[in-house]
Amino acid sequence: MSIVAGIDLGTTNSCIAVPANADIPGKQRLIEERWLREVGDALVITNPDKSPTTPSAVWVGPDGTVEVGLRAKNKARVATAETDTKPAMFFKRDMGTDQLFTAGHATLTPVEASAEILRHLKARAEEVLGVPVERAIITVPAFFEVTAKNETTEAGRKAGLEVVETLIEPVAAALAYSRMSSSEALENQQTFLVYDLGGGTFDTSVVTWDPEVGFENRSFHGDRYLGGYDFDRAIVSWLARRLPHHDLDLDPDVPADARILSQLLSTAEQTKHELTQFTETDIVNQHLADRTGEPMSIHEPISRADFEALIESAVKDTVSHCDQTLEQARITKDQLNEIVMVGGSSRMPVVGQVLSDHFGRSARILNPDLCVAVGAALKAATVARRSGYLELDHPEPMPGATDIGGRVMAGGRLAAPSTAKVVLTSDDGALSRTESPDDSGRFLFEDVPLQDADENGFTVQVIADGAEIDAQQFSVEPGSEAVPPPSGDVLAHDFSVELVDGLHTVVEVGTMLPYRTQFRLETASRGAELRVRLFEGMVPVGEVDVENLPPDLPVGTAVEVTLEFELGWTIQAEARIPKADAAGQATIRIPQRQVPSWEELRRKRHELRTGWEERRSAAAPADVLRVGAQVDRQLDEIDTLIDEGQDRTKTHHKVVEAETLLQGVPVASSGVGALSPPLEEFEDLLRDTEQLVDRLAQYDAAEAERHRAAIPGMRSSGRAAYESGDQLAWQRAVDAARSRGAAIYQKLPQDAKPRASAADLQGLLLQEIQQIAETISDADSRTGGQHRAAAEGHISEAQSIVNEVLAVDMRDDQRATQQLAGIYRASVAPLRARVEQWLDEVRTVVAARESGGGIGLTLPKSSMGGR
Ligand SMILES: Nc1ncnc2c1ncn2[C@@H]1O[C@H](COP(=O)(O)OP(=O)(O)OP(=O)(O)O)[C@@H](O)[C@H]1O
Ligand SMILES: [Mg+2]
Repeated sequence: MSIVAGIDLGTTNSCIAVPANADIPGKQRLIEERWLREVGDALVITNPDKSPTTPSAVWVGPDGTVEVGLRAKNKARVATAETDTKPAMFFKRDMGTDQLFTAGHATLTPVEASAEILRHLKARAEEVLGVPVERAIITVPAFFEVTAKNETTEAGRKAGLEVVETLIEPVAAALAYSRMSSSEALENQQTFLVYDLGGGTFDTSVVTWDPEVGFENRSFHGDRYLGGYDFDRAIVSWLARRLPHHDLDLDPDVPADARILSQLLSTAEQTKHELTQFTETDIVNQHLADRTGEPMSIHEPISRADFEALIESAVKDTVSHCDQTLEQARITKDQLNEIVMVGGSSRMPVVGQVLSDHFGRSARILNPDLCVAVGAALKAATVARRSGYLELDHPEPMPGATDIGGRVMAGGRLAAPSTAKVVLTSDDGALSRTESPDDSGRFLFEDVPLQDADENGFTVQVIADGAEIDAQQFSVEPGSEAVPPPSGDVLAHDFSVELVDGLHTVVEVGTMLPYRTQFRLETASRGAELRVRLFEGMVPVGEVDVENLPPDLPVGTAVEVTLEFELGWTIQAEARIPKADAAGQATIRIPQRQVPSWEELRRKRHELRTGWEERRSAAAPADVLRVGAQVDRQLDEIDTLIDEGQDRTKTHHKVVEAETLLQGVPVASSGVGALSPPLEEFEDLLRDTEQLVDRLAQYDAAEAERHRAAIPGMRSSGRAAYESGDQLAWQRAVDAARSRGAAIYQKLPQDAKPRASAADLQGLLLQEIQQIAETISDADSRTGGQHRAAAEGHISEAQSIVNEVLAVDMRDDQRATQQLAGIYRASVAPLRARVEQWLDEVRTVVAARESGGGIGLTLPKSSMGGR
């Protein structure tokens, strides 16, 4: 019989473990000799050097021999210019994309490289255990998209493993934690936060534990591209800045540069580990050359404080992800019983420090490298045990008795499962029962009594034509209290489809798999096919295509689409036309992500910047406030990533997220009539402007003429923009008319200024609030998010004032004017004053970050102040 293993396929390190109760010949001896390490109900399999983890590195020799693990990783240190032989590493970050990796003398896809790691782990496990390992549960980051999760399964298949399930890493960590904690700790309900900062990804999750129900993941957050790899890169960039006389402007897409980079990364990782242990160390490497081939003799002292300054903002980001996880789960900091740190990067002292400063309690670190594999092994323990003809479900005993069920599989000497008999006997000979499987092979022995002994041994035999064709021996612990882990995996993102009016969530984060859901589409033309984009969180992952619809369907016919999210992250689609009682052919297309070139990424960045500028002025202030700060931050991050030019996959991911974020900022939909503001308002605006010009003519004839001459052009281009249905062009025309009006108004002597209408006041108020919010976001990004909580507080206040302003009933001009003036005095002016004061406080932080020059952290003058 083969064993089901749990595998943590990590960005930097991988690990394989099996359930502690697996049938392993000579188990005790293997444990004593440390080939198996006991960790919380699982057994971690160690390497020939007795280390429990294997570096995720692959190197292929000229003759095709494959090295995996430490030996492969060490090739990074010795790779020379003559033979381009750096190992493939960190490829997990590129799962689900079209990127390729040099692995010694071969080029591998991320799937192929992952398959090599899995093949190696499987072989090592079989060598130690002496039994075949044919099935596995492999863990994946919560924030992997479906493609990346599916490719993990594919890698398993290539390695000769049947991947029973891919389990989300923070779920695995939580499972392991529940078994490693003392049993008293878990007698009551508990809420804890899993903080997993590994080599490539950061995942956080709020998990609740209930002794009756087991544990549940309540929410997820994280960053698919944040981990130890980024910290290593930060050291490399720091080092490059300290070596200005060497050409280290390395382009990872150029093989020779990639080789130098891989050597530097390897040195950097070692330095990073030393800085966990010591407050100072030296970066030493005498065997490197720069891009021009000039030998480099590196000997640079670096302190822990230097390093922490480099990664400070990334570590702070992890905390803000934690806050968002808590918010999603509607849990306050004080309701947390424990913070559990997992992942090798949690070892960095700054992480525990920042967490305890933020949460006011110390975080626990628990076997950070093994936890995830242990969790996977615990889940593996609940997988049905399979031998030739017999699959036995994992028994879940009640006090004093248990059900024993399973399935007989046809094939070989057994034509149909229902022709077999299944016999259950207890080892003490007291019990013997026989059942006939049903047509599908299922059988169940109900209420099998259990003795009080530690373990009750049983045998299940499959008998065909009077002879035993298969049998399994196993034991059941009576009343074992451990609540079994929930079956199925959980979605860590919302899934949405994109319809004309934006994204519609079809499955929510936290949903257990498998899951079925339905939504309706409408045909927009005849004989149509329908196509909608499918989003996972903020990332478009594929399309749902409905084809072969009956050709004569009227426009607007409803089509019901069903999506089935299966275990193992495959999604099936079905389409039905309820009215016509017909079906279309629905398929899901989830392609690999094509990572564009740097040039293309720069172009996309430019598009994003201009798109955002345009939307910012055309969208409703409420929408701008809602996402403004987030968009600004995301764009800044993209700028930094493009400037560094090191990580195309991560940069592209951030670009895609930003694109989705911008799409979520609606500018009124296209089509004449739907534009905002309506055409009459523009005409009114121009008429008001003409009246202002007439007034101005009495004081400054020349200036008035200049303005008068511009009005016909503004009118015709405004009308053209309106007729084209282009909201952005329309908004530009309206803004131009408004600012000309405002310019003329400014020129008039005080006593000649007309009184403003309620609509003007409303516009001015909204403009002012938007200005305040933009200043806050600007200050927030320039302080590197150090004052994020205050910034967010101000923004949310601004948001609620916008709602108040928009709620004013504008039908009675005089009343509305009074109300708006009241809102200005009671809310806007005080907010303005508080923000001014806050800007004073953060100015020093900005000055420190932006050494040299003025700090433009000032709110523009109020346009309302004098009213
Ligand atoms: N003592 C230490 N100090 C600092 N960093 C460490 C230490 N030990 C390990 N790390 C870092 O932890 C990372 C590996 O952690 P882990 O094995 O949990 O990640 P992984 O499982 O490979 O990655 P992921 O879960 O993101 O796919 C590496 O970047 C490694 O350099
Ligand atoms: Mg990990």
